[in-house]
Amino acid sequence: MCGIVGYIGHKKAQAILIEGLKRLEYRGYDSAGIALLENEGIAVTRAIGRIMNLEAILPTEGSKATLGIAHTRWATHGAPCERNAHPHCDQSGRIALVHNGIIENYRTLKTFLERQGITFVSDTDTEVLARLIGQCYRGNLEQAVRDALHDVQGTYGIAVISADEPDCLVAARKGSPLIIGVGDGEYIIGSDAAAIVEHTAQAVYLSDGEMATLTRDGFRTTTLDAIPVTKDVHAVEFSLEEIELGEHEHFMAKEIFEQPQSLANTLRGRLDVREGQIVLGGIAEHARTLARAKRIIFTAQGTAWHAGLVGEYLFEDIAKLPAETEYASEFRYRNPLIDDGTVIIAISQSGETADTLAAVREAKLKGALALGVVNSVGSTIARETDAGIYLHCGPEIGVASTKAFTSQLAVLAMMAIQLGRRRFLSQQFAERLVDALTRIPDQVSEVLEQSDTIRSVVETLVDRENWLFLGRGYNYPVAMEGALKLKEISYIHAEGMPAAEMKHGPIALINQGMPVVFIAPHGPQYDKVLGNIEEVRSRGGRVLAVATKGDTEIVRLAEHVLYVPDVPEPLQPLLTVIPLQLIAYHAAVLRDCNVDKPRNLAKSVTVE
Ligand code: F6R
Repeated sequence: MCGIVGYIGHKKAQAILIEGLKRLEYRGYDSAGIALLENEGIAVTRAIGRIMNLEAILPTEGSKATLGIAHTRWATHGAPCERNAHPHCDQSGRIALVHNGIIENYRTLKTFLERQGITFVSDTDTEVLARLIGQCYRGNLEQAVRDALHDVQGTYGIAVISADEPDCLVAARKGSPLIIGVGDGEYIIGSDAAAIVEHTAQAVYLSDGEMATLTRDGFRTTTLDAIPVTKDVHAVEFSLEEIELGEHEHFMAKEIFEQPQSLANTLRGRLDVREGQIVLGGIAEHARTLARAKRIIFTAQGTAWHAGLVGEYLFEDIAKLPAETEYASEFRYRNPLIDDGTVIIAISQSGETADTLAAVREAKLKGALALGVVNSVGSTIARETDAGIYLHCGPEIGVASTKAFTSQLAVLAMMAIQLGRRRFLSQQFAERLVDALTRIPDQVSEVLEQSDTIRSVVETLVDRENWLFLGRGYNYPVAMEGALKLKEISYIHAEGMPAAEMKHGPIALINQGMPVVFIAPHGPQYDKVLGNIEEVRSRGGRVLAVATKGDTEIVRLAEHVLYVPDVPEPLQPLLTVIPLQLIAYHAAVLRDCNVDKPRNLAKSVTVE
């Protein structure tokens, strides 16, 4: 989604802002722009496409400005073009604004402003807000922003500057994250921490309904109603190295190959192998409520929703607790029935997904205990849930989620085991699972060694435009995740589903040469999956199987077999998804697709 960077200090702002925008590129965007406070007033430069297009039209000698704001836009209102790119200005051109989110009542506001003679040059909701701030301006930018926001319905993260107040940057948020990086005599604001880590590891997270007014000497935070708010300064958890490519060609590859380490980080300090116990400090306070819950609802979107589906199996199988998984976007609007015994678990890498956040709010409003399984420390979902467990898998930059997914699975497995021990799970079985979890990082490394083989296999199939991914039980959500990965980065059409579902329609699609990926490790439904493979083969499909190491039977049936080590069934998804991530990655590279910035996609979906 859109990205915001702002700078006030004593250094030249232009380079800092452009660098910050580049750090936010991974979020997805279609145009970029910058506003710098020069001697003559505010200079706005905008360009369609990549940030390098913007750099190309900025004065080569650079600006001396030490105050500025910048933005990457992902079009919502109005086509992606230079005119619609941010920053937008008020009518006088002396106030500039960047904005993430959506102003829902922008039409009404626009009509109101037009009646006062205000004209517009873009199709955006953001320009309406910029013009409105200009109309409210009486020599105090903070007050003008506050007054304007009182009339606004919708979501926003904004940064505003005025040519008449060269020592002032105003920021405000409602629904779109904003972080203030605290430096020495300087402040950098960003819509996520990636924009600020190069300059400072100290940050203040603005909460919804809060504003910050920054000068070179300090900052103050208030509510939108001007009530002072004291904010803690937090240490930003990740380092610059973690958001740089290193030796890898793409962030997605980096993150796929990082999984042995990211999983080790997720599991660290949480496994007690000797006792078969799990230690989850974040939810310790609620362990009793959770153990007595009558129903668990996982809620999430996309890949995180697939993790929720695995969670459903884990909780019912290991903890013997009824569980269901809901798209947050559906849950929030269908007036869900929630009683005392319901616990909602929101799963989100970014912690900012608009629908998942709204689902949490809806469930809390109806009295449910809301827990979060979140990666981004200090994110909105992490703060708004009653308690939660961080993934600790490090920042995920690639748009396609990989390492966050496996860490989500690891956290859900730990939760299920912990909960199981308080319910019906024997110590013996718990010990077996905990012990198996300790070995997962090394086993992931083993699976990753097949990357070159997978690339060769994909080379033979990459021209096919329709793929099917099939699995049963714990591996049905994995099949769905494999299909999502392939379609989102290689633009190959793919569907994932329970293997048995194939016979209820999709089998009609299978023709000569269609790739069908079966996730078929040993387990209770293995023989049934072999039956499904036969059905596909007899219709000319080309079968690729993910199977348990040492399985010689499946070699007879599948054209290619990718192996994973033998693990207890509930932990299989942690390994079986790895070859599917690699299939998608190699397919995208072979098809010359922009792996880290797939078309139309944004890393974090902060609007509905
Ligand atoms: C797919 C992907 C998305 C996200 C979804 C939820 O690779 O990354 O489907 O999983 O947008 O995002 P979070 O986890 O940030 O809530």
